[in-house]
Amino acid sequence: MKFFIDTADLDEITALTETGMVDGVTTNPSLIAKAGRPFLDAIAEICHVVTGPVSAEVTATDAPTMIKEGRKLAAIADNVAVKVPLTEGGLMACKALSDEGTMVNVTLCFSAAQAILAAKAGATFVSPFVGRLDDLGQDGLGLVEDICDIYANYPNFKTAVLVASVRGPQHVVDAAKMGADVVTLPPNALRQLFQHPLTDKGLQSFLSDWATTGQSIL
Ligand code: G3P
Repeated sequence: MKFFIDTADLDEITALTETGMVDGVTTNPSLIAKAGRPFLDAIAEICHVVTGPVSAEVTATDAPTMIKEGRKLAAIADNVAVKVPLTEGGLMACKALSDEGTMVNVTLCFSAAQAILAAKAGATFVSPFVGRLDDLGQDGLGLVEDICDIYANYPNFKTAVLVASVRGPQHVVDAAKMGADVVTLPPNALRQLFQHPLTDKGLQSFLSDWATTGQSIL
């Protein structure tokens, strides 16, 4: 399973990349607005730090303009994945950009039917938003399970399932059990994966017992 981080904050991306756990980055217009940096510069900087796919989202809503924007974003670096919304126009842009060899991440996927269309359009990634479905009392991970099951029936579908809108470790574990290819995590959600109170407690106890020996390894 690959881990992307869902942020445009370069300091966070740099710090988390040093853990060796970051396989890519996803951004969206809201995250770019939060970062407060010029969009194209921010994407170029992220692509310099991260070797894996970096999703950069178009902001047009008609296919021809999305394609033009996508080409401009893809020209920033070889590892840009152009992000398009799961609309009719977005899928037309996905098909055109994918046919040109550009990685495309189809975002805002909220149904299995939409995910089938994304695969047919040649998407590199499809992003089901689990947290936002859970927020409505719906079953976000159930959608991920459906998509994984459906894609497994069709080996000619090459689209990777990228679980987005992740809220915490349980989403990651459940998505991994379902065989999802990628999860994208906000920085703090990635940090949560490292943590367990029994790890902290056990380490504290080992270190205090070690201190009584008066020894040192180095
Ligand atoms: O970047 C797409 C997605 O991960 C956004 O998640 O937390 O805004 O629902 P969220």
